[in-house]
Amino acid sequence: MQGNRTFTMIKPDAVENNYIGAILDKINAGGFVIKAMKFTQLSKQDAEQFYAIHKERPFYGELVEYMSSGPIVAAILEKDSAVADFRTLIGATNPAEAAEGTIRKLYAKDISANAIHGSDSDENAQIEGRFFFSEREIH
Ligand code: RTP
Ligand code: MG
Repeated sequence: MQGNRTFTMIKPDAVENNYIGAILDKINAGGFVIKAMKFTQLSKQDAEQFYAIHKERPFYGELVEYMSSGPIVAAILEKDSAVADFRTLIGATNPAEAAEGTIRKLYAKDISANAIHGSDSDENAQIEGRFFFSEREIH
């Protein structure tokens, strides 16, 4: 059975461009309920740890620098088939390839500054949520 929770971050470009409100509206309109949320900033070490899974990829250094460059919004979201449905809502990694109406098509600049993160599996959704939130903060 597919899990009903996913984890997201509104990335530094979208925060800087004042898209937090518009993106949260899209998330709610997509049927997702916010179960935990915080406005925070990753240190370089935090970003290295969060993205350790991409350590060997050529864009890792750039990704870590970028994700620690400014504030982000982290949140845990609930909906049936949350992981898959959220990835549909945010669109392709590269906004130039993202479908019309998706969050990345509407609000992302480019493949690095692509507005939003969405977990890629139920297991990673849980790991990523716990990276940002204590048990007490998750409802
Ligand atoms: P995310 O994890 O942020 O939801 O994005 P994703 O699953 O669509 O993409 P993933 O392969 O997990 O890559 C993580 C993030 O790394 C940056 N990236 N840059 N320059 C590049 O070729 C490149 N490829 C990926 C993106 O910011 C991507 O969201
Ligand atoms: Mg990913």
